[in-house]
Amino acid sequence: MKHKEIVELLSEMTIEEKIGQMVQISGDIFLSEDTSRILTGPLHDLHLSKEKVYHVGSVLNIVGAERVKKVQDEYLSKSRLKIPLLFMDDIINGYKIAFPIPIAQGCSWNTKAIKEMTKISAMESSIAGANVNFSPMVDLSRDARWGRMMESIGGEDPLLGEIYAKTIVKAYQGKNLSDIGKIASCVKHIAAYGAVEAGRDYNTVDMSEREFRQYYLPPYKAAIEAGAEMLMTSFNILNGIPSTVNKWLIQEVIRKELGFKGIVISDYGAIKETITHGYSANETEAAKNAINAGVDIDMMSSIYANHLKDLCLENQEIEKKVNESVLRILTLKNKLGLFENPYGNANQTKEKIYLMNSSNLEKAKKLTQETFVLLKNKNHVLPLEKNKKIALIGPYIDNIGITGSWSMFSDRTKNGTILDIFKEKMGSQVLYAKGCEILRQEEINKILSADGLPTVHVENEAQREQDMIVSAIQTAKKADIILLALGEHYRQSGEACSRSNIALPENQIQLINELYILSKPIVLILFNGRPIELNKIEEKLDAILEVWFPGTTGAKAIVEMLFGEENPSGKLTMSFPQNVGQCPVYYNHYNTGRPHHDNLRYVSRYQDIPTESLYPFGYGLSYCDFKYTQIHLNKHKMRKNETITVTVKIENQSDYAGYEVIQLYIQDLYGSVVRPVKELKAFKKEYFKPHEIKYIHFDIDLPMLKFWNEKLEFVAESGEFKVFVGGDSVNVLEDRFELWI
Ligand code: GLC
Repeated sequence: MKHKEIVELLSEMTIEEKIGQMVQISGDIFLSEDTSRILTGPLHDLHLSKEKVYHVGSVLNIVGAERVKKVQDEYLSKSRLKIPLLFMDDIINGYKIAFPIPIAQGCSWNTKAIKEMTKISAMESSIAGANVNFSPMVDLSRDARWGRMMESIGGEDPLLGEIYAKTIVKAYQGKNLSDIGKIASCVKHIAAYGAVEAGRDYNTVDMSEREFRQYYLPPYKAAIEAGAEMLMTSFNILNGIPSTVNKWLIQEVIRKELGFKGIVISDYGAIKETITHGYSANETEAAKNAINAGVDIDMMSSIYANHLKDLCLENQEIEKKVNESVLRILTLKNKLGLFENPYGNANQTKEKIYLMNSSNLEKAKKLTQETFVLLKNKNHVLPLEKNKKIALIGPYIDNIGITGSWSMFSDRTKNGTILDIFKEKMGSQVLYAKGCEILRQEEINKILSADGLPTVHVENEAQREQDMIVSAIQTAKKADIILLALGEHYRQSGEACSRSNIALPENQIQLINELYILSKPIVLILFNGRPIELNKIEEKLDAILEVWFPGTTGAKAIVEMLFGEENPSGKLTMSFPQNVGQCPVYYNHYNTGRPHHDNLRYVSRYQDIPTESLYPFGYGLSYCDFKYTQIHLNKHKMRKNETITVTVKIENQSDYAGYEVIQLYIQDLYGSVVRPVKELKAFKKEYFKPHEIKYIHFDIDLPMLKFWNEKLEFVAESGEFKVFVGGDSVNVLEDRFELWI
């Protein structure tokens, strides 16, 4: 439709129909034969009449061409103006093909890989009828206790967050939203959700505006500049006001300053939660606060449905805002071509051909391998030699639950396991013992009851545990090397999964301790959704391969990497703490007046652990041996319109070929506000042949040196700078230069 036709349509709508467009509910009601039953059930809790249900503008949690068409048909059959529903979903790391969870994808430092994964996911989602994807989550995240670290694509760094946000939004949306394979991106969660106090989900966020602008805002800004069609507000308060009703955030920053013209949707029930927060006195106020702040869609609450009409009757200004919101919603539907084809690109025939096709699965495996991070490889125990006897031990050796907690649409039964792949490679003489469960039943029961499922009692768990360890030891004794696959349960990370203890579970640590006694090399494959506390076991392990939750093709990707068919190239986007007491720990911290220094007492440190992280931001090993030997600046004084070229010589001193992520960091040694000890400013992922030497160049320009000063101006200041180049944020070559403005 032409824009003027959209405007005409808006003028034909009743106030009830307009407000309906601003309401989003779960779409399963339209699939139920007996809608009256549903109305007395889930929607009864939402206090929505049947009439209001058939006015809603969008649904969530419905995907699959057949289901989408059924829901759309049912809805339109009772719609006066035949305005099609929008279908929105959480397709966080892939639809049918589950890709690695976002924290893992971010560790690839490869925008081409992320773009490729996103495009495959978008195509699968598009032909399955999804119009909008609640992705990417670009919340800067520094606290490993927070379960939603697993969703954070940029980790603890704002630059990575910006680059990945832009990459993903463009890959989802392309140039024309109605094209097959394109879906609208709903970027989340505005704002600063990753800064929840103590890493506890949904908790308070309070920070200076300068901190917010310096670290948390850039990824959202990049997403908006990339053309994101939608933003989702976060559950947390930001400086005393819930984000969802925060006029400064939505109106001043997002709309006016950043020029966002798309749709703002609340998170799940977040408008109603402003009452619980103690900001809105009642539901009417919640509706008023949200519409005045600029939220266009109320996700899964009835606040707009039941209170906006009266507010419009009282105040024309509110009706004006309603009209603006509805126009934005109709405009998105029009961009998606839904008025011409309410089914969008939903297509069962295409689904049968395209979903989980072998070519994409092969691509997924290659892309997945870019996300693994080799944290330790003592005496080059990896890659494994085929003639060695390998004992496969651990609850993740034969486990399909490796796709993470947001992969509800992927078919896990299609996931091969490490044991399957080994059997394919080595025949049946594979040595295997489970060794232990992922969690003891008490921990599993906490997860089950949180999900409203019945808990389970296990008889003689301690004896079973002991028997499994004995069996594992017997198996390990027959082998030359132990391959141990351990980690978190996939339901220990994700939403509402904050934890005060981020170590491996006791039963897993016990297995490690028992196996360690055998004095055989132990290779740990680590499955997790957040940085894990490893300091108690790290010294007992000869190698650690961080695989996160690698998705559908993860097992094959892992085994090929273990045998050297692929070479690890991933780098951490989040620091691994020494232990949970160190959280939050991140590389771009301030120096303090008493920075840590060995053997000094009155410095900023802990008495019981080292001050630096166990594994730093940007860290990751390779089978190659990269040596950074020289750094050179073409000059050491820079005027404001000039650049400095940094050249670094890197040699691959190994017989392996592989990729290295060369990272450029800068420190502004002093400023009108203190500046962090390091900030990532650029990186390059370069391929090296065996024994190849490369000279890698970076240009430093003025925008790299800008920051938010105490007057909240985004400026660069004359002064002295250090420049660092390395394969992580700690082991670096350094030099200095001056900026003269
Ligand atoms: C959840 C999450 C959000 C998700 C939404 C819809 O509570 O916070 O990330 O997209 O609800 O499921």
